[in-house]
Amino acid sequence: MTTSAPTPQQLAQSGTLDELYGYLGEIRIGAGWAKKTPSLWAEPKKTFEPYRWSYAQAKGALDAAGRLINTELAERRNLVMHNPAGDYATSRTIVAAYQMIMPGEKARSHRHTPNALRLVLDAEPGAYTVVNGERLPMLPGDMVLTPNWCWHGHGNDSRACAYWLDVLDVPLVQLLEPMFFEPHPDDFEKEAVVPNASPMCFPWSESERRLKAAAAKANGKPAEIALGDLSSGKPALDTMALSMIELGPGQATPSRKLMANNVLGVVKGSGVTEVEGQTLTWSRGDTMVVPSWREHRHRSDGGAVLFRVTDEPVMQKLGFLREGTVAH
Ligand SMILES: [Fe+2]
Repeated sequence: MTTSAPTPQQLAQSGTLDELYGYLGEIRIGAGWAKKTPSLWAEPKKTFEPYRWSYAQAKGALDAAGRLINTELAERRNLVMHNPAGDYATSRTIVAAYQMIMPGEKARSHRHTPNALRLVLDAEPGAYTVVNGERLPMLPGDMVLTPNWCWHGHGNDSRACAYWLDVLDVPLVQLLEPMFFEPHPDDFEKEAVVPNASPMCFPWSESERRLKAAAAKANGKPAEIALGDLSSGKPALDTMALSMIELGPGQATPSRKLMANNVLGVVKGSGVTEVEGQTLTWSRGDTMVVPSWREHRHRSDGGAVLFRVTDEPVMQKLGFLREGTVAH
């Protein structure tokens, strides 16, 4: 404490509120009744904006990056989707990025506390991810998990560049501060096994089969299947739940307003997302963010499949998950 700090007597004898505030400021205390900004409010402020990022544009930029930077210099050749509200992240808790790896390249192995997943957009047989020693194929529509602290690296033995959408809970980890990161001691983890099936991998062929079965039972409404531990019903990751939504031609999802953030990737087809007066138009490979507490629905004239990532598990565990009433 500095010698100029007010004494208890000086504080007790403050003649005016301004004099009291002055003393309090010196000892790092604020008067709760005179805050510059309120600390409580009636409803979520909706700080983050809805937005759509174009895969065609990102792909062009990644092709340029393929000429300009290699995987020796860049841990990952990726393009991060910044929310237009000005934040680094895509939403409050989730960040999304497009990534590309060229033929013959390897993206070295590492592990970190943030949970991550990737949805493959364009790749040919030979592109793969190694997760904890298991080599997992990456074909379009496949989804690969790398949960908290799992080793992972990427390789590409095919003749074509491989492109995918990365989604991570990095902003949440930054906020809560348990960030740990470690490069693999061998640079690139050697793959030990090529499993027939892995809880880390959700092949498109399987998702497509399940979507078709779910759509047949949905009575003309959009079908949604969860990607996760199907036997326990647990979400795929501690912080993010994953699903695929099939919109048949002319179908729309019901309007929802949920206290959870959504990042969506377009697996196939095209359509629009209507969100509080805005219309986001999308087609295959595009990424959209629908931040929490934004009333929205998705619809498609010609049919589409959306991949949905949501932080609902976080909100649920903390008791913050709410569904709002919608206008219609
Ligand atoms: Fe990583």
